[in-house]
Amino acid sequence: MLYHEGTYYWYGELKGDSTYWNPNVPNWECYRTEAGGISCYSSKDLYNWTFEGVVLKPELSDPTSDLHPSKVLERPKVIYNEKTKKFVMWLHVDSDDYSKACAGVAICDTPTGEFTYIRSMRPNQNMSRDMTLFKDDDGKAYLLYSSENNATLHISLLTDDYLDHTGTFTRNFVGKSREAPAIFKRNGKYYMITSGCTGWSPNKALYAVADSILGTWTLKTNPCRGKNAEKTFYGQSTYVLPIVGKKDAYIAMFDRWEKKDLINSRYIWLPIQFEKDEPVIAWRDSWSID
Ligand code: DGJ
Repeated sequence: MLYHEGTYYWYGELKGDSTYWNPNVPNWECYRTEAGGISCYSSKDLYNWTFEGVVLKPELSDPTSDLHPSKVLERPKVIYNEKTKKFVMWLHVDSDDYSKACAGVAICDTPTGEFTYIRSMRPNQNMSRDMTLFKDDDGKAYLLYSSENNATLHISLLTDDYLDHTGTFTRNFVGKSREAPAIFKRNGKYYMITSGCTGWSPNKALYAVADSILGTWTLKTNPCRGKNAEKTFYGQSTYVLPIVGKKDAYIAMFDRWEKKDLINSRYIWLPIQFEKDEPVIAWRDSWSID
């Protein structure tokens, strides 16, 4: 989710309608679907959404392209660079068996595309799968990515144009196998919600906290409460959205994957409450922003 000049922009994985199991992957249930590029919806109020189209188009004619439907495109995030006046997208780019483990970057003059794909890379020469982007109050931006075969989560400072890595990065949650990072800042502290690594199947979330974005990060407990909290309500963290103009109002966003029918995956959005400084995400059948 990107907030820019009064509008929320919601970017997502455009999945093909048939889900199949990739037999080339022996160790886990590698269900996959055609990668149809990245789509975008916009909203002023988070209730009413307008489809803005496919903002990063697939490359249908070149099977070697990162954007070919036979590849994997996941977890797109977009931030705005005040200096270059460009919108910069980072996303997880992978081969159909998830062995490429790269981050891709694309750029655009507007939030609604069409984005120009620049390249993929292994950040700081390290593997990169599940990822998110974070732009701090000082304008510095960071890529957070599951690295070292998903065992350790790296946080990498991007260059001023947000298109590359500076070489400054930290290794966090070493050997703890955390993925699906969703980060936010509150009262000067950084919080991150992550999942464990169980493919498309749900597991227990944990939150972590740090005084500085590059760490030291401390893993805490499960922020979820209520029915199915141990399975993150059958969801997996994807983003935390601060509601603009409301104090202390954050929405925890989760993907609810339908692993054998991925196009029918859905979303869970829940408000985050704070007990002292501890984030708590309680299940609610319904709620409103008010
Ligand atoms: C879990 C990740 O969080 C998802 O983005 C996706 O890569 C699946 N694994 C694939 O099994």
